[in-house]
Amino acid sequence: MASLMLPHRAPDRTALDPAAAKAVLFAAAAASVWAVSGAIVVTFAYSNVAGSSPSSINGGDMVQFLTRFDLGRSLGLSAFLALIVATGCWMATRTLHAGILTLLSLLALLPLTVTAHGASNHEAAVNLLGLHLIGVTIWTGGLAALVVLRKTLGEDFPSVAQRYSRIAGVSYLLVLVTGIAGALLRLNSASSLEGTYAILLIAKTAAALLLGAAGWYQRRRILTRLASRAASGRAFALFAGYEILIMAFTFGLSVALGRTSPFADSAIQTAAESFLGAALPPEPDALQWLAQWRVDVVWAPVAALLLGWYLRAVRKARRQGLVWPIPRTAAWVLGCALFLWATNGAPAVYARLLPSMFVTGQVILGLAVPVLFALARPASLARHTLVPRPDGSLGIREWLICTARLTVTGKLVHPLPAALLYVGFHGVLYFTSLLGPVVSSNAGRITSTGATLIIGYLLSHALLSYPPSPDAVKAKLAALLTVLAFHITGGIALTARESLIGGDWYLLVGDLWNIPVTTDQPIAGLILWGAALPPLLALAIGCRNLVGTSARNLVHGATTR
Ligand code: HEM
Repeated sequence: MASLMLPHRAPDRTALDPAAAKAVLFAAAAASVWAVSGAIVVTFAYSNVAGSSPSSINGGDMVQFLTRFDLGRSLGLSAFLALIVATGCWMATRTLHAGILTLLSLLALLPLTVTAHGASNHEAAVNLLGLHLIGVTIWTGGLAALVVLRKTLGEDFPSVAQRYSRIAGVSYLLVLVTGIAGALLRLNSASSLEGTYAILLIAKTAAALLLGAAGWYQRRRILTRLASRAASGRAFALFAGYEILIMAFTFGLSVALGRTSPFADSAIQTAAESFLGAALPPEPDALQWLAQWRVDVVWAPVAALLLGWYLRAVRKARRQGLVWPIPRTAAWVLGCALFLWATNGAPAVYARLLPSMFVTGQVILGLAVPVLFALARPASLARHTLVPRPDGSLGIREWLICTARLTVTGKLVHPLPAALLYVGFHGVLYFTSLLGPVVSSNAGRITSTGATLIIGYLLSHALLSYPPSPDAVKAKLAALLTVLAFHITGGIALTARESLIGGDWYLLVGDLWNIPVTTDQPIAGLILWGAALPPLLALAIGCRNLVGTSARNLVHGATTR
């Protein structure tokens, strides 16, 4: 609420407005309750696992549980992050603080997916539950927050309720889609439709549909009357009260569901599959480069959303009379296609099994896709098409501008720091023992994919953006040479290296396949320097003043009719 929905009228745009400050105070109280209940769940979870009463737990055992066991580590991490959010909320004074704490609180939800039941594709089951929890908490928590803040908002209540209703609609859809997809992944045989799990699911679905109907009524009847002042905020709050009761009941059902096994029989057969949490793909050959796909429930929607937003924005820009060069749109579409392939196709399917495929994915996500995205000028398109909020509240446009104005962004969107960050990140990834935990864990893979793309985009944006001053040209040249030198020396080092990157991980999975992964690493080295050349060349061409005017018109040519 405070970071995305509440109007801002105070002259100091960066300070929390009174209503937002009140919202953050409520958030501090809620996060404190969350942190305490998280700590209690950790204690009970331990006593459940250890079969001993909570009163007999000793510190040493608890530390073991929190550091050595997946369950303890995840529940402990979530409670710890909730504690940080609570502390931050008690101290927050700036809108930026509220924004950061919003992201952190969503992050604190994700370790709770550790309780997700296995499935034919465990990684997808975990990620779907993560998205499910994000949708559920924004939707239900947002409604509760709206009711709590009704009096504080006064005149602004109808407009904020309208704004919440739009976000609630999207969250509800997210809950339905991820819930149903998650259920289908777990109900892997007809017999599992007879069990308690299925009954709980049906009850949940009924509750979800009831809540959907209530939301529809709220939006079509109460909100419209509220906007025309024909109804009071009290009517909204009363109706919302019933909704929140049903939601609370559904939460209870859901936790019971999370603790009920869905399986009549286990789908996972071989050691490889229990190790990877999914079926082992066929040995790679030329055909498999195009034939191997495994839908990634996080990155496939991201690719679709990026493509959808850009094409819609271009159409809007054209309607506003802005001429948007076709090569830019083509660059974006190609970037989205490559992104989809790198995160859902062969590079993603084999990245955990072959170093060469991991490196292929990294070069595409870290260079090829960001260069194409930067050439497509999304920031300029967003500036032309995203509508500013009228009441001082912060929407996507305002948060993009705020992020761009941060000192750290200003420093990083400069050729040399961006190049050093790029080399540092990939250097640590390839040449330290970090790679094993990154490539073998779901959270590690999602984080490294996101970081690779953002760091690559910072570099490409820094090299392709203005100004054309002589110093900038020198800095761009130095940055390009630094990245080129890293790829060449890194590639040679990988080719010559005795030990495998990623510690034991690739050795362990290598046995699964009878493919001597030691022969694959030199190929990874070749890819690290070979595949990097085309995007680096494109960057060099795109850099202003490095190769002349014609390229400039292609890259910078948006003019108004
Ligand atoms: C069509 C409607 C829905 C379906 C099919 C659905 C399905 C699921 C599935 C399959 C899980 C994972 C359980 C497991 O680990 O085995 C889950 C978890 C969860 N769902 Fe839903 N869901 C739906 C609607 C909702 C609604 C409306 C809410 C809340 C208002 C909700 C709250 C939750 C919560 C809190 C969890 C996590 C439970 C835990 O792990 O402790 N879901 N849901």
